[in-house]
Amino acid sequence: HVIGVDLGTSAVKLLLVNPKGDIIQEISKPYPLIQEHNGYSEQDPQVWVDQTISGLSELVQKFDGDPDDIEGISFSGQMHGLVLLDDNNEVLRNAILWNDTRTSSQCEQIYNLVGEERLLEITKNPALEGFTLPKILWVKEHEPETFAKANSFVLPKDYLRYKLTDELHMEYSDAAGTLLLDMNSNNWSDEICEVLDIDRSLCPPLVASHEKVGSLTNEISSATGLSVNTQVFAGGADNACGAIGSGVLEDGKTLCSIGTSGVVLSYESSNDKDFGGKVHYFNHGAPNAYYTMGVTLAAGYSLGWFKDVFAKEESFEDLVAGVGSVPPGANGLLFTPYLVGERTPHADASIRASFIGMDGSHVRKDFVRAVMEGITFSLNESIDLFRKNGKKIDTIVSTGGGTKDDNWLQIQADIFDVEVVKLSSEQGPGMGAAMLAAYGSGWFESLQECAEEFLKLDKTIQPIKENVEKYKGLFGLYQEVYEQTNKLNE
Ligand code: XUL
Repeated sequence: HVIGVDLGTSAVKLLLVNPKGDIIQEISKPYPLIQEHNGYSEQDPQVWVDQTISGLSELVQKFDGDPDDIEGISFSGQMHGLVLLDDNNEVLRNAILWNDTRTSSQCEQIYNLVGEERLLEITKNPALEGFTLPKILWVKEHEPETFAKANSFVLPKDYLRYKLTDELHMEYSDAAGTLLLDMNSNNWSDEICEVLDIDRSLCPPLVASHEKVGSLTNEISSATGLSVNTQVFAGGADNACGAIGSGVLEDGKTLCSIGTSGVVLSYESSNDKDFGGKVHYFNHGAPNAYYTMGVTLAAGYSLGWFKDVFAKEESFEDLVAGVGSVPPGANGLLFTPYLVGERTPHADASIRASFIGMDGSHVRKDFVRAVMEGITFSLNESIDLFRKNGKKIDTIVSTGGGTKDDNWLQIQADIFDVEVVKLSSEQGPGMGAAMLAAYGSGWFESLQECAEEFLKLDKTIQPIKENVEKYKGLFGLYQEVYEQTNKLNE
């Protein structure tokens, strides 16, 4: 057996997986966000560790086999969060998380000192508030006494792994989201450290996702009931693990994941393409692989908002039930899902959403269909960018909210103009972590071989030609709406 630990933003989720890839135990332990000021988002790293230990010991208690049969453990983690450590590897302050937006002026500083083009050449990514480097600069500027004590920095799941093993590392797929990794050489960027006056020794040694970093400490073994021989593998960023856990492990494969926000992520075999910073470009958790990624900020959030405002008493199932009887194009109604701004492709925090084309004959289900289509158009903007940069997309694995309704799956196939696949289990990141442990333990020759054994198909949906044509026209109109509405809130 292996354990996949998914260290998320609201909870840590633990999966116990048998050699066939079946999830035989699942435990979730929540923790709060600390939001002291508008735009701040922090967590206490000790709480991640405590909740994980408590989850692991519950998992072992519920397991009717021998704990010695749990061979390996690995991790998926929320990306970009800054954990600063002193020279005893003690945490110096709360972690500043990926969804903390206090660092706009530090992003500007990075552009001014490193240069926008040079940053893109080195890291392949733009300076965004969520990434780690601006957070390091923020602490340096606002909490110089704390910063002076810093000996290294790590990301959330790297800290958790350190506490379980006493071995301190950072792993590539997460390091790629710091803005300090030189994607060309796959090593820390001396140039960025030097220009921003950050001591290079703050950056810990790098390891690959499937690499074994050690075993559990005696203390963790007695606290959880797991054997000290349980091997610990590095793990990956949640999006990288989501890709692994959805079988996005070769060119042509793409993942569409609809949660509160939505992500479209596509496998990439090389690190030398130029996407101009319009999409994220990070190291995959699979060896020598990469992925590109676009983000829709209000995906599931848009449908949740609509339900809260216009159909509070209804269930999600009832709300979407009628959508199948509304034709593609929602009888002329078009929605842009910019309720909280947009990340890809506009990187615009102030743009707001719209309904366009309302008619006296429209009823609620037209609006619901328009919302689903608008969210899918937004995700298609990322897919469109991938394709314009020469990517071929053969299959999209859909997970999350977009798979809960067959009409929405068909809308995805028709708007994305490609076959859409739904898997029978939807544990993307946690399953990806478990797969890294299984592959690291030597159960399989490759992650792909592991995916063939572990991941089971539920259904495949093919695009319908006439819908594809209809949506192509509407997508062009959808793309024009941004330019026409981005002045509304100025
Ligand atoms: C990716 C990002 C989020 C976090 C969520 O760039 O900010 O998807 O990884 O945990």
